[in-house]
Amino acid sequence: MAGKLMQALQYDSYGGGAAGLKHVQVPVPSPRHNEVLLKVEATSINPIDWKIQKGTVRPFLPRKFPFIPATDVAGEVVEVGTGVKNLKAGDKVVAILSHPTGGGLAEFVVADKKLTVKRPLEVGSAEAAAMPVPGLTALYALTHHAGLKLDGTSKQANILITAASGGVGHYAVQLAKLGKAHVTATCGSRNIDFVKSLGADEVLDYKTPEGATLMSPSGKKYDAVIHCATSIPFSTFEPNLSTNGKVIDITPGPSAIWTYAVKKVTMSKKQYVPLFLIPKLAEDLEFLVNLVKEGKMKTVIDSKHPLSKAEDAWAKSIDSHATGKIIVEP
Ligand SMILES: NC(=O)c1ccc[n+]([C@@H]2O[C@H](COP(=O)([O-])OP(=O)(O)OC[C@H]3O[C@@H](n4cnc5c(N)ncnc54)[C@H](OP(=O)(O)O)[C@@H]3O)[C@@H](O)[C@H]2O)c1
Repeated sequence: MAGKLMQALQYDSYGGGAAGLKHVQVPVPSPRHNEVLLKVEATSINPIDWKIQKGTVRPFLPRKFPFIPATDVAGEVVEVGTGVKNLKAGDKVVAILSHPTGGGLAEFVVADKKLTVKRPLEVGSAEAAAMPVPGLTALYALTHHAGLKLDGTSKQANILITAASGGVGHYAVQLAKLGKAHVTATCGSRNIDFVKSLGADEVLDYKTPEGATLMSPSGKKYDAVIHCATSIPFSTFEPNLSTNGKVIDITPGPSAIWTYAVKKVTMSKKQYVPLFLIPKLAEDLEFLVNLVKEGKMKTVIDSKHPLSKAEDAWAKSIDSHATGKIIVEP
């Protein structure tokens, strides 16, 4: 593919939102030793993608401009590096790219063999591309941090999932139910039936006064909160937590880090856990793909957008009212 050009979207400075994305033609990248070149079939947008553009993690990301954003892709292998033995041209795969390199909003992308897994025919490209960042975040929050065993062998836990209608939340509800947890979820009124259909036992409308208290309608105290919404202080969660309850915050800001430090120093039994996703194992992604293959979990797609209109997908994600995942397809 050396010398061939491809369509891509990139930005060349911080800020600008959807209007800051430019359609360009750039060379198709070449896979290095441990990389595979994919023909992209679907890419999903995550809030971190436009937060990087906004400058939220400046000066660490992006490492340089211009930058092609997005990390969650599904596609077909077209070329492999000399060190790749487990994948070959023609394999259908799903991959998570690194945030420093990005590259997903393009017709072709290179992915690390360690974070690329084969995708069975039963799992479509859009439903696979939707999974990496939000699915792994939900998985790690529930298993590593909340201590839930997804084979259902742990003691029944009461779990609150905020923003259960979003990308992370909709996977978290389904995974928590696989772990036989009692799930209380929050979402807007238009999504109550949807979140119940994912398996939530009780649902709170976050825009009502009762919903804003986060109190379980059945009086349960939460052993863990998978906090996928933003801007809710620890003091709102605290009265609703069980004695050793934890709030696992997937969008930890500076005040959240302060709360974490205070809870540690005061040896509080109720804990606050900031979660930063560091995907390490292809097996975890494979585990999620297999759940979808076996019909134990599903991806819900909010909307699909062609690469030629990827800025609409970007704007929709910035709007933060998606139900499920936003997908771009070349
Ligand atoms: N730590 C990590 O590694 C990591 C990984 C993934 C995501 N994140 C972060 O996690 C957050 C969620 O990500 P996401 O992909 O799930 O976002 P998303 O898909 O954009 O979430 C949108 C959904 O959240 C709902 N929502 C918004 N505010 C809410 C509230 N206060 N209570 C209940 N529901 C609310 C919206 O419902 P309405 O339309 O009804 O308002 C909408 O359905 C983002 O801040 C993201 O950056 C962190």
